Parts: sequence; C-alpha cells; structure tokens
Amino acid sequence: MKPRHPQFAATLVGALCLAGVALAAGPTKSPQPKPAADQRAPLVLLDAERHLVLEEMRNFLAVLQTITDALPREDMKEIASAARSMGSGAANQIPPVTVAKLPNEFQVLAGGVHTSFDLIALDAETLGDPKHTISQIGEMLQKCNACHGIYQIKVGSNLRAGK
Ligand code: HEC
Repeated sequence: MKPRHPQFAATLVGALCLAGVALAAGPTKSPQPKPAADQRAPLVLLDAERHLVLEEMRNFLAVLQTITDALPREDMKEIASAARSMGSGAANQIPPVTVAKLPNEFQVLAGGVHTSFDLIALDAETLGDPKHTISQIGEMLQKCNACHGIYQIKVGSNLRAGK
C-alpha cells in the first residue's frame, strides 16, 4: 500500500530524526568543567619557588643515585658524604618566605627526609653496614612516596598555599 502523502511522510521521518539527534545530544546546558584528573592537594607557589622545590627534589633523586651506585662497592665514605649533602644542613635551601607557604604536614615530611639522610650518613660512617643502609633508604622512600601522594605544586600568586 502506497502512502497517500509521500512528501508528508518524508517530512515526518526527517523531523523525527532531528528530534532523535537533539535528544541524543542531551540538554543544551553549558557544560560543567570536568574535575581535574590530579586530585592531590595543590601547593600554590610562585614560579621561582616551584623551581626551587623541584630542584631540591631532583637533588634528592641524584643523591639516591650516588648512594645506590656506591652500595655494591660498599663505599661507605661516599655514601656518607652524599647522604650528608641532603641532610638537615641542606634543609634551609628553601627561603623562609616559601617555607611559610607550605603546610605543616609537608614540612614534617620534608624534615623527616632530611633527618633520614642525616642518620644514613651517620650510620654509614659508624656501622659501615650496606644492608642497614639499604633498609634505611627503604624507610626514607616511604616518606617521599607519602608526600607525593598528598601534594602537587601549582603556580599562582596566593599568599598562603594549601592551608
Ligand atoms: C614533603 C613533601 C615531599 C617529600 C618528602 C618528597 N617530595 Fe618529591 N615532590 C614533592 C612535590 C609536591 C613534588 C611536585 C609534584 C607535582 O607537582 O606533581 C615533587 C616532585 C618530585 C620530583 C620531580 C621533580 C621535577 O623536576 O619535576 C622528584 C624526582 C622527586 N619529587 C623526588 C623525591 C625523592 C627522591 C624524595 C625522597 C628522598 C622526595 N621527592 C620527597 C613533594 C615531596
């Protein structure tokens, strides 16, 4: 059986298609901003401050490389001097005005890493036991990982960050 009004039928099909497309596209509200993929707490620092903190981080990693390189050779002197370079004596490389922007928890974890380096240096000299050094490094890495799990750095001009 032929439709009596083929043009009308075609228009109806077209209209239904358009409605379908509109429905599929969903309501035309302004799109919500997607939540950031990185949900760690932001530390808002100036660009230069971020650079200083990240530079210290890379120094941590470089010293760990020196230590793991010296471990199989059991070069406890080199281990001690490398660890000491990142000990409490090195903790004041970040200016107080920047430190003041960092939350207490951050400062405690960072202080813990510097103290760990102190102890690694001391024990390398006095005990000279590479296995002991390795277990100390393992413990210290927990602090590195703990902090990395909590914070990220954002560049901005807020006076107090992350509090
Ligand atoms: C008190 C907190 C804290 C501790 C402790 C800490 N880090 Fe970090 N680290 C950070 C933050 C925050 C960043 C930046 C992360 C981001 O913005 O994604 C970072 C970044 C880094 C980076 C990347 C540097 C770059 O140039 O991008 C390295 C490497 C790193 N950390 C190594 C270490 C090592 C190794 C340790 C332990 C010996 C350590 N960190 C301990 C907070 C910490």
